[in-house]
Amino acid sequence: MALKLYSFSLFSQLQGAVTAGMVHLGDALGLYRALAACGEPTSIADLAERTGLHPRWVREWAHNQVAAKLVEGDAERIGLSPEAVAVLADDDHPAFGMGMFHRLPQTMAALEHVKDSFRTGLGHDYDSHGAEGAVGIERSFEPWNRSFLLPAVLPALHGVTTKLAAGARVADVGCGAGGALLLMADAYPQSQFTGYDVSAHALARARTKLTELGAGNVEFHDPRVSPLPTDGSLDLITTFDCIHDMTHPRQVIEAIRDALAPDGTWLLVDIKALDSFEENTARNPMAALMYGISVLSCMSSAMSAPDGAGLGTLGLPESLARQWAADAGFTRFRRLDIDHATNAFYEIRP
Ligand SMILES: C[S@@+](CC[C@H](N)C(=O)[O-])C[C@H]1O[C@@H](n2cnc3c(N)ncnc32)[C@H](O)[C@@H]1O
Repeated sequence: MALKLYSFSLFSQLQGAVTAGMVHLGDALGLYRALAACGEPTSIADLAERTGLHPRWVREWAHNQVAAKLVEGDAERIGLSPEAVAVLADDDHPAFGMGMFHRLPQTMAALEHVKDSFRTGLGHDYDSHGAEGAVGIERSFEPWNRSFLLPAVLPALHGVTTKLAAGARVADVGCGAGGALLLMADAYPQSQFTGYDVSAHALARARTKLTELGAGNVEFHDPRVSPLPTDGSLDLITTFDCIHDMTHPRQVIEAIRDALAPDGTWLLVDIKALDSFEENTARNPMAALMYGISVLSCMSSAMSAPDGAGLGTLGLPESLARQWAADAGFTRFRRLDIDHATNAFYEIRP
């Protein structure tokens, strides 16, 4: 019995992995959006027709989705619950979850190149996931930001929205495709915004979106070419889900301290990690997912230089963030009361 249970447990993981691939297809082929547009259950044949896809393939995909209980229905008709619409089909909903599934092929392709990393120790940066990897990251973070960054997060910081309205200098370090920065720049046209990222794919995407928005108060730079200023001239620096990905996070934290004005603010957003492996596995039901993503993405990025710090997805708990901030000369550290599924928010000040 124990052997059967163990095998079942193992193949349940494979079932999750393969179903994740089917979720990627549901998003990429527009199947979820078409189902959501129906507003009520429809026949699998109708779904195939609406999406212009081959009915036999849509049928087998649909049976996976119903068997996995992601989609409601039976052998012939399927539909989405309101929750499924939010998570699978509504890019504007804060709970939209397709970002990580968008980049699933790139994440899984890392299985090939990290084999060498296990031997050499050297990981791969975010550009190893290609342009679609950057889009997947963008789709992971932007829906929540669109709903909460301006109305909930910035007002939780002491005096920041007043400064932004009057005209402030802002940097977003590890800005990715620039979603957060462009939201802020659009809302606060009196302020100047600079995004920094080492990913060429993310910067290209950010610059395309900047052109579309037409904002004149935003620049994007690779910090290895144009680093942060060192003259204490910035009022606000943000880092969203990226310090744990960096090869040299302590140097970046020191650079943030040097760039900030004496009454400036660093908004650190990073994974809600706990202090030990035991706590993470006991209290985080997604711990296995996070340690796995770390190998394929976060820790790999953080090990992509020979002396990389290698923090990884769960590598920056509050205690370490506090310690490193204090070491860099910050004197004020406050955890914000912001409710987020995976992230913690900290206001850190000189
Ligand atoms: C998980 S992504 C988050 C991107 C973005 N902040 C967001 O929320 O969408 C991490 C980003 O950190 C960037 N990164 C890693 N090391 C960096 C460094 N030293 N300086 C700037 N960006 C860095 C990566 O290229 C990647 O775009």
